[in-house]
Amino acid sequence: MEILGIDVGGTGIKGAIVDVTTGKLVSERFRVKTPKGAKPADVADEVAELVNHFNWKGKVGCGFPAIITHGVARSAGNIHKSWIGTNVTELFQQRTGLEFKVRNDADAAGLAAVTFGAGKDVKGLVIMITVGTGIGSGVFYNGVLIPNFEIGAIPYKDYKRVEHYASDSARKRDKLTYEEWGKRFNKFLKLTVFLFSPDMIIIGGGASKKIDKFKDLITIDVPIVPSQFENEAGIIGAALLAL
Ligand code: BGC
Repeated sequence: MEILGIDVGGTGIKGAIVDVTTGKLVSERFRVKTPKGAKPADVADEVAELVNHFNWKGKVGCGFPAIITHGVARSAGNIHKSWIGTNVTELFQQRTGLEFKVRNDADAAGLAAVTFGAGKDVKGLVIMITVGTGIGSGVFYNGVLIPNFEIGAIPYKDYKRVEHYASDSARKRDKLTYEEWGKRFNKFLKLTVFLFSPDMIIIGGGASKKIDKFKDLITIDVPIVPSQFENEAGIIGAALLAL
């Protein structure tokens, strides 16, 4: 069965057609830029552009960078504040005429990792951390999602949210080397381990491709592995949501 998976991020909106029985992409990946300001109507236009690019008429699964309950966004970390209270599922359905299932982006990425990737058959608590514009987290207990964990939103030192200190966009903003940023990311990981005692941490998002550049700086005593899908876990997991 094939489903269009879409991963809405703070800087890009990516999609591909996914074979949900194998977790493999069966089309090339297509990316459009997240519109400046990331307002609902503008993002919906780009989502529609992506759907049209694939000439897609079937079901769509979509990861979205916010807390999502019953299709409604409840937070807005790196997107326009007017998303809060917006029914994302309805907005995208109305704009495209297709059936959508929308969930938090890191929850979606984690779903790919526990279904087909590094977290498959792992017992206990598995945390997917996506490192990109923000820091997303997807939490699974014995393979079952506990939705909407927002570890990146925990305040840290003078930062309102720890993601403002340790995300990939913080690395770029503060012009940090991977060594400097890796130390920050390690602090974030130590906080995560202290608070949640996971059995495994999986790294996704843009940074998962660069893990060799910072893995020596990580001092936590919990297995930490890349998702195995490079930057595609969000797309694959989004498609799985629509099942
Ligand atoms: C949002 C999360 C999201 C993460 C990654 C954060 O700013 O609060 O909901 O999962 O970014 O996109």
